[in-house]
Amino acid sequence: MTSAAQQLADTGQDLHRFLAVYRELYPDDVLSLREPVSRDQDVTAAVWSLAARGQHPALMFERVEGLSGPLLTNLFASRERVGRMLGGVSPAGIHAEYQARSRRMVEPRERQSGAVTQHVVSGDVDLNAVPTIRHFATDRGPYITNAIIVAEDREAGIGNLSYHRSMLHSRSEIATSLHSRGHLWRMLQAVQAKGRPLPVAMVIGAHPLFMLAGAARLPYGVDERRVAGGLFGAPLEVVRTPKYGIAVPAHAEYVLEGVIDPEARAEEGPFGEFTGYSSDRSTNNLLRVETLLHRDDAWLLDVVGGNSAEHLNLGRIPRESEMVEKLKERFPGVTAVHYPSSGTHFHAYVALKQSRPGEARQVMLGLLGWDPYLKTVVAVDEDVDITRDEEVLWALATHLQPHLDVVMVEGLPGSALDPSASGVGTTSRMGLDATRGPNFDGIRARIDDAAMARAAALLARAR
Ligand SMILES: Cc1cc2nc3c(=O)[nH]c(=O)nc-3n(C[C@H](O)[C@H](O)[C@H](O)COP(=O)(O)O)c2cc1C
Repeated sequence: MTSAAQQLADTGQDLHRFLAVYRELYPDDVLSLREPVSRDQDVTAAVWSLAARGQHPALMFERVEGLSGPLLTNLFASRERVGRMLGGVSPAGIHAEYQARSRRMVEPRERQSGAVTQHVVSGDVDLNAVPTIRHFATDRGPYITNAIIVAEDREAGIGNLSYHRSMLHSRSEIATSLHSRGHLWRMLQAVQAKGRPLPVAMVIGAHPLFMLAGAARLPYGVDERRVAGGLFGAPLEVVRTPKYGIAVPAHAEYVLEGVIDPEARAEEGPFGEFTGYSSDRSTNNLLRVETLLHRDDAWLLDVVGGNSAEHLNLGRIPRESEMVEKLKERFPGVTAVHYPSSGTHFHAYVALKQSRPGEARQVMLGLLGWDPYLKTVVAVDEDVDITRDEEVLWALATHLQPHLDVVMVEGLPGSALDPSASGVGTTSRMGLDATRGPNFDGIRARIDDAAMARAAALLARAR
C-alpha cells in the first residue's frame, strides 16, 4: 500500500476524518463551494456542469439553503478516487482489489456508543430535521438518495443492506421504493406472511467503503456489513439501535429506525433514475420512523441521481468486479471487460483473443446470462480499446454483418426501470460479435512509428 493509501486507511471509519485527510492528500480533487446554493436542483446542476467539462471532483457545498449543515456529494464519480479508497489501486485494478477485499469477510464489532449516538430522539420524531434536496426538476420533491436500509432476521441469522430512494411522506413517515425486488423485498414478504412489520434501520451517510459494501449483490443471507469489514480490512464498528437492536455504523451521520409496514402504501416518484429517465415505477412502501440518531456535526452525504457517473459507478463497481472475475475464470481468452457509462447499466464491451470460432458468442452469452441488468454485449478483438466508445463503434461499423453476427435472446427478466421494457418486467438481450473472424480480409491502414515520431517533433517545433 502506498503511504497516501495508508494515511487514508488510518483515518478509520469516520467520514469527516476520511475527507480531511483526503483533501490534504489530493487538494485538487475536492472542490468546496462556499456561496449559498438552493436545495432545489443546484447541486445536480453543478455536478452536471463539471461533468460536461470532464471534471468529477468530490464536491462540498458549505451552505445549502434550508440545510443545517454542509452537503458532500460526487464521492464515487471518479474511478481514480475509488481506487484511492481501495488502497491506492489504479482504475484498472479496482475489480481485482474489490473482489479480493470483499471476499475476506469480517464480522462487525459492537460498541456501546459512537458519533451517531450523540443525539438520539425517540418517540415523537420530526423528519424535517433530516436534510434532503431535490435533484431534478422532474422529481416529485426532495429525496434522500443515499439511504441504505439495514434489515436483520435474527432467527434466521440474516442481515442485509440495500439502497432505496426515499422521500418524506409525513413528519414521521418515509415513502420508499423496493423496485429491485432484492433481499429486502424477500425479507418483507417473509414477515408479511407472518402478519408482522419488518424492523429496519436507514443509514444516511457513512464512510464511503460502507457505501460501496451496501451496493454489493450477494447470495441471500450473506450480510453486506461483513463485506464492509472486508473492504476496511477491520471489523465494521457498529452500535445497536435503541428499539430494535439493529447494528448500524457507529460513525454514521444519520440513522433512522422504524418498521416497514408490508400492508401500507405511500405514493413516491417520479424520480430521476440511473437510466437518465424520470421513473415512477415504484413499490410505494411505507417506513414508520420511531427513532432518529445523528452526530453533532452531521453532514448530508448525497449520491448524485440520474445517469451520473457517481450513481452508475456506485451501482455497478461491485457487480462489474464479480462479472469480470467470473468471465476471466471461465474464458481465459478474455483480455478486458468494460461497462461504458453511455450504456447506463445495460451495455458491456468485452475484448478477447479468440482461439476458436464461436468463442465470442459463448463469452457474450455467458455475460448476458449472468448479469441481470445487461441488454447488449459487444465483443471485439483484443487490440480494440474498449474503454473508448468510438473504438467499439468503429469495430461494429467495420467488422459486423448483422445477419451473421447478432445473437438475440427474448423474454428474460430485466431491470424494472428500463423505460423501453414492458411493464411485465421482461427484456430481450443481444450479443453483437464485432470480432474480425477467420474470413476477415481487411488490412488496417497503418502509419509507421517513425512517421508518427517525425510528426510529433514537427508539431512541437511549430507551437
Ligand atoms: C445509489 C443506488 C440507489 C439505488 N436505489 C434503489 C431503489 O431506490 N430501489 C431499489 O429497489 N433498489 C435500488 N438500488 C439497487 C439496490 O440497492 C440493489 O439492488 C441492492 O444491491 C439489492 O441488494 P439486495 O439484493 O441485497 O437487497 C440502488 C442502488 C444504488 C447503488
